[in-house]
Amino acid sequence: MKHGKGYGLTGVAITLLLSCTKTSMETPVPCSEKIIEVVTVSTPSDGCYSHSGSINVSANGSSGFTYKINGNPFQSSGNFVNLSPGNYTIIAKDAEGCEAVKLVGVGAGIAGPKFSALKNLLLVKCSRCHSGKLPPAGKDWSIDCTITAGKWLINNRAVIIGDMPKGGPELSADEKAVITSWISAGGLVEN
Ligand code: HEC
Repeated sequence: MKHGKGYGLTGVAITLLLSCTKTSMETPVPCSEKIIEVVTVSTPSDGCYSHSGSINVSANGSSGFTYKINGNPFQSSGNFVNLSPGNYTIIAKDAEGCEAVKLVGVGAGIAGPKFSALKNLLLVKCSRCHSGKLPPAGKDWSIDCTITAGKWLINNRAVIIGDMPKGGPELSADEKAVITSWISAGGLVEN
């Protein structure tokens, strides 16, 4: 009697274990059904010619994440340091190989109010041709140092000539003033 019960219980335990293993092997959640969110915090570099920026990455929606930046190999740490200003492609991959991508910018210093207003103007009026991987118009105006290095070009085309945004409409007087007042304040990220 006692023996019988003992075997019976052992039998149940084994069955449960097997069916558990079987279930998790047969029905992995497909990547398309996972909602993986890449969470990033970036700190700016100190100026256009330094490499002191950083990006800290984490992800949720799955587990066992590794991370990579641009074309580098995946690593378990989500901490990327010694970055120069620019845009970086961050990928998080979970234990089953499901990936999520995020484009993250590293600035060139703490942005001042005039620069922030200008950057927002460029985002709204220019980014569809002047940002992203291989921007169709050449210059990527989402990168702080490309903006500061190109300030006279921007002034020339968007304020003086007035043919940018290409195809119009021309910027309003107020929008042009966002560009000129930033340049006359110094034309730096911190202005
Ligand atoms: C509809 C697409 C489009 C939009 C929107 C646009 N541009 Fe352009 N831009 C271009 C193209 C294409 C070129 C390259 C050909 C040329 O110089 O005309 C260009 C070139 C430029 C250049 C010259 C770059 C160089 O290397 O000499 C500047 C400066 C410029 N754009 C500024 C701006 C600004 C500032 C805005 C927003 C206020 C803007 N563009 C919006 C398409 C666009």
